[in-house]
Amino acid sequence: MTILITNIKELLQVRDETILKVSGNQMKLLPSIKNAYLLIENDTIVDFGDMSDATGIIANQTIDAKGKLVLPTWCDSHTHIVYAGDRSQEFVDRINGLSYEDIANRGGGILNSAKTLQNTSEDDLYNQSVIRLKAVMKLGTGAIEIKSGYGLTTDAEIKMLRVIKRLKKDFPIKVKATFLGAHALPIAFKDNKQGYLDQIINDMLPQIAKENLAQYIDVFCEKGYFDLDDTAQILKAGQEYNLTPKIHVNQFNAFGGIALAVKHEAISVDHLEELNNEDIIALKDSNTMPVALPSCSYFLSIPYTPGRQLIDAGLPLALATDYNPGSTPSGNMNFVVSTACIKMKLTPEEAINAATINGAYAMGISNQYGSITKGKKANVIITKPVSSYNYLPYAFGDNHIDTVIINGEIV
Ligand code: NIG
Ligand code: FE
Repeated sequence: MTILITNIKELLQVRDETILKVSGNQMKLLPSIKNAYLLIENDTIVDFGDMSDATGIIANQTIDAKGKLVLPTWCDSHTHIVYAGDRSQEFVDRINGLSYEDIANRGGGILNSAKTLQNTSEDDLYNQSVIRLKAVMKLGTGAIEIKSGYGLTTDAEIKMLRVIKRLKKDFPIKVKATFLGAHALPIAFKDNKQGYLDQIINDMLPQIAKENLAQYIDVFCEKGYFDLDDTAQILKAGQEYNLTPKIHVNQFNAFGGIALAVKHEAISVDHLEELNNEDIIALKDSNTMPVALPSCSYFLSIPYTPGRQLIDAGLPLALATDYNPGSTPSGNMNFVVSTACIKMKLTPEEAINAATINGAYAMGISNQYGSITKGKKANVIITKPVSSYNYLPYAFGDNHIDTVIINGEIV
């Protein structure tokens, strides 16, 4: 099966296969070809170039992209889309004056979602998650990381990870699984944090490894959740099962979690709404990708990650949604890209780099995803007719997507 896309107004993010991430000043560049074609064979990008060189190419299906842009699908490297129910009541409670912290302290928040999920069957959880996954695919996401962390018991964590595994099998979107047992302290362990850490290490991790349910290990490293010692214990235990760290850190407080993550060779550090100089120094000369989650900042009215500062310091930056029921009930990467431009002062080029190639890097898949490169997976967005790529983040809130192709399939 071959698909030929012709007359593309501009083909964006055209890269050599050796580029696995872009950092600092390089993020300002978005290589492109104007008046281009793109050829897909089965699940792979096999050819692209100037439209004048497309004569003679025959395909099973031809899509005329006159006036439209083509770019790689979004790579959303941080989500919690497998969850049960929602927390719209807590949303109203926050409007009425309670803080995210107040809600968590009275047993709401993550523990509220965990209770609902524990009482939801695996099939029901799968069906609820499928609705969200299909929706984000339509919004242009072609690769996604999904975390556990709303189970908080061995059975419920395994249930979540099995659902992620089913999603991976049933849909063309690329799925990466992360084990986030250390997301919050369950009520049963209220006065025995080490007891819960032991359960994660001695009970959950061996089962997850046995069923090969995750590739990454995450911890909510934050005051009132898991401190540096707890985080180090979990990351170390995970690494013994070959799980790579990818952690929630510096969301509300900066206290050395980034340096710790870098020391454990984390593939990414995510949130970073609070950031100090030591954090930036720790990230320099590391292979760890900083990941900003601007929809979370928007929804909780907390600071935006200082992405401008990170990029100006020569670092890379990725953008992801954080789609979850508590802090970000939205999986729309288009909104993320727009918000990064509007609120974090990223240029459109920087934001698109952050949401494609660098997002792929944060999932360890940028050799296959995140750019228009021969041999990479055929994951592309075809936009509606637009004046330029600047228009995508500029005209925020509208859906500019015409067609999404994931793994060579039109979704
Ligand atoms: O990434 N910060 C920790 N975890 C999630 C939110 C959890 C929740 O409120 O359900 C996040 O924002
Ligand atoms: Fe998160």
